[in-house]
Amino acid sequence: MMKRATIMVVDDHRDLAENVCEILQSGLEGTNLTCLLAGSAGDAIEACESQRDALDLAFVDLRLPDADGVELLGQVKSRCPHAEIVIITGDATVESAIAAVGAGAFSYVLKPFRPTDLVLTAQQALAQVSLAREGDVLRRELEQSERRHREVVEAVPAFVLALDAEGQIRLWNRRLEEVTGCSRDEMLGKPGLELVGEGARKLPLKGGGHRLVRWQRAALTSADGKPVMYAMGVDVTDERDMLRRTLRAERLAAVGTLAAGLAHEVRNPLNSATLQLQVLRRRIDRGTTDPGELLPIVEIVHDEIRRLDRLVSDFLSFAQPRPLRLEPLLIDELVQGVAELLRLEAEADKISIVVELGAGEGTVEADAERMRQVLLNLMRNAVEAMSAQGGSLTLRTAPADVEGNARIELEDSGPGFPEDAPIFDAFYTTKASGTGLGLSIAYRIVADHGGSLQADSRPGRTRFVIKLPQQAAAGPE
Ligand SMILES: Nc1ncnc2c1ncn2[C@@H]1O[C@H](COP(=O)(O)OP(=O)(O)O)[C@@H](O)[C@H]1O
Ligand SMILES: [Mg+2]
Repeated sequence: MMKRATIMVVDDHRDLAENVCEILQSGLEGTNLTCLLAGSAGDAIEACESQRDALDLAFVDLRLPDADGVELLGQVKSRCPHAEIVIITGDATVESAIAAVGAGAFSYVLKPFRPTDLVLTAQQALAQVSLAREGDVLRRELEQSERRHREVVEAVPAFVLALDAEGQIRLWNRRLEEVTGCSRDEMLGKPGLELVGEGARKLPLKGGGHRLVRWQRAALTSADGKPVMYAMGVDVTDERDMLRRTLRAERLAAVGTLAAGLAHEVRNPLNSATLQLQVLRRRIDRGTTDPGELLPIVEIVHDEIRRLDRLVSDFLSFAQPRPLRLEPLLIDELVQGVAELLRLEAEADKISIVVELGAGEGTVEADAERMRQVLLNLMRNAVEAMSAQGGSLTLRTAPADVEGNARIELEDSGPGFPEDAPIFDAFYTTKASGTGLGLSIAYRIVADHGGSLQADSRPGRTRFVIKLPQQAAAGPE
């Protein structure tokens, strides 16, 4: 494409002006040149008004009838932002020409000039103009892209803020303004580190209350080399509420299932006691006074009531656990203590209890009484499973592993349970007088500590493994 250029020659000597035009027309080969002539500063300004941005170059005689060339310089520049100006002057006024360059002219040519000099100057000035024009286009594109980025930051439905090295807020986007009610002007310069910590943080609202916001942070370096932290936040308040509602609904459903199970379990001993009382009444009605006939019935009723009592208290400790009282416990001490509690009872059933302590000084943060309850439930089950034929129960401990979990293992040599037996389900029992709650309770307590309870079994070897974190989790709500 052929280059275009618009040049104006301002000189009150028309011949000279035309001459300049001709020289340029023939000298600037390959350029589609438009040459304008102006005989006075007034004419020149008029031409500028109509040309505006289209004017590339003006040759201006320093001496004009109605104005000084240097004055005209400002007038042209203000109307034609891209135009360059070359001063044409005679020897006598070379000082003024130099001053004009100081005031923003591109250069000057001295009369009489050689055509090649004139053309060369014009070429240089036009090259300068086209560079400036390109620069302008680039700057506009950059501004546009910056504006787009700013708009994205402003318009995203997320919270975006930036902090400088001092932790002061440097960016506070529209979403933050809308949700918190705090304007950008209020927030810029305020300390903001508190707002954007790890995990979900409370974002205070101007009208009181807060939203829960989960932040993602990125440390960057700004254009001027200073560190900036950008944080992008998502409002998780509703998500949390939903989760809490779901949990509550699940818990209610679980309570329903448990209550049904409890009612069922309560009915058995109640039926049995009622039947026995009817038998007792019939015998009394018949005039029986022999204690040998009456007392066994009283005993049975008493047993059933005891079973009911056990059921209710087990159920309560399952359904309504009290908050954990956490303290550092020596694992070995805990296990040894519980082993001694059951040793005599076990030996009466020809069951030997073997303790292999390996935790040393290892501790866990736990509720001693509740952990004792867990171990007792598991040991009782083992003893009950082996009571018919005797056997051995081994208790093993190990300190925290790389993941921070200490380990307690109980292994018995009893008959075990089938792989698909739902042993951890509430009310599942294979025993005539069982409640089926022992393992449910144990499982619940270990889980409340943030640990896990697992079992595997084959005839002759049944193993329960408790893993407890060295630092307890939050515990039940
Ligand atoms: N060590 C074990 N060996 C064999 N079976 C076991 C053992 N521990 C538990 N079980 C099975 O799991 C069931 C549930 O145990 P648990 O919840 O303590 O209730 P319960 O002891 O009242 O029956 C037991 O009835 C038994 O069938
Ligand atoms: Mg049990």
